[in-house]
Amino acid sequence: MKTHLISDSVYCLHADVHTDELFEGIWPIPDGVSLNSYIVRGEKIALIDLVRDWIGAPQQLKDALSSVNLAFSDIDYLILNHLEPDHTGWLAEFRKLNPKAEIIATAKGINLVKSFYKIETGLRIVKDGDTLDLGGGKVLTFFETPNLHWPETMVTWDAESGSLFSCDAFGSFGALGDRVFDDEFNEAEHAFFEKETLRYYANIVSSFSTFVERAITKLGGLDIKCVCPSHGIVWRKNPKEIIDRYARYASWAKGPAEKEIAIVWGSMYGMTKLGLDAVIRGIEQEGVPYSIHRVPDENVSWVLADAWKSSGIVLAMPTYEYAMFPPMAYALDIFRRKHVFGKKVLRIGSWGWVGGAKKECDAALEGLKWEPVECYEWAGAPTAEDLAALEAKGRELAKLISKEQ
Ligand code: FEO
Repeated sequence: MKTHLISDSVYCLHADVHTDELFEGIWPIPDGVSLNSYIVRGEKIALIDLVRDWIGAPQQLKDALSSVNLAFSDIDYLILNHLEPDHTGWLAEFRKLNPKAEIIATAKGINLVKSFYKIETGLRIVKDGDTLDLGGGKVLTFFETPNLHWPETMVTWDAESGSLFSCDAFGSFGALGDRVFDDEFNEAEHAFFEKETLRYYANIVSSFSTFVERAITKLGGLDIKCVCPSHGIVWRKNPKEIIDRYARYASWAKGPAEKEIAIVWGSMYGMTKLGLDAVIRGIEQEGVPYSIHRVPDENVSWVLADAWKSSGIVLAMPTYEYAMFPPMAYALDIFRRKHVFGKKVLRIGSWGWVGGAKKECDAALEGLKWEPVECYEWAGAPTAEDLAALEAKGRELAKLISKEQ
């Protein structure tokens, strides 16, 4: 097994998980996910973040430890930056193998150690700015960064190597294989991870964007040479890239995002789709890039990522039983929960014997704080007049997006 040295006293250990099981029970991970842990050595040895018992992850962690001539029993301190079970699910087993290691977390984190794993002893609470002296000149500092991604979260800082152990923050979906560092991946691989970082951000972190901005400001004074998240690439060549990427994603929570349009559509018998095709012609005439997602065919995980990224949204759906097309209602509910706010939106759709989607959709959009272009609905199949009007609506939305600052 390859050893991933960050410095002569800091190593990245990682486990790749490939599974059909959904991440958090919600989000698909067809290209896997990595669970990264880190060893920091002074005279004492700290392990930062753990794994859950998930498709061989503990064995992978054990093998990675062996590759640096360590075993679980050698660990003096287990630092848990975040208690979500993807990083801690194997804690009780670890404790059996190593009863002496002190478990370190914030006060809220220690509460979760007790409630999730029923461990009551050998626990140490740390607060913002507290340090842990490993001996041999190696001192770790803890900074509380709440809601990245749960309230108990902290990051761990090794000033000597300039390594920031950030757990979920600056993370991504996607398994790593036998490489972990940013300079080991080519352009195409980086493009893949950029998409998976956006999807991870939109799915897992987006609701906490204010806290992302606070944490980036708080950590801004550190001379960060390596960003070491617990999912995804380890950034030693260009740590600023992933920090800036997260800052950009967080900024989209309160203002215009990219000058793009995310089209979300569903159609029962193709009549709404005929109208949508006209809207798309209008968007294309203005040259605004767009993504297109059919619900429920496409999982909302990807829909959410493009919605987060785009300043404009098109919702195209028929009326279904006097209300919204149900898969669209689900997508809008996820958008609300994930704080996809501040978009410009055009809604269109056809109805059969009577409308009804508009009323429900208008109420949903109010909760999302979206700015609507006047919606367009028609009965049955669209007429030539409808199609011309829909094309004009597409142009209208695209022009608004082009003009955004
Ligand atoms: Fe990777 Fe919020 O756990």
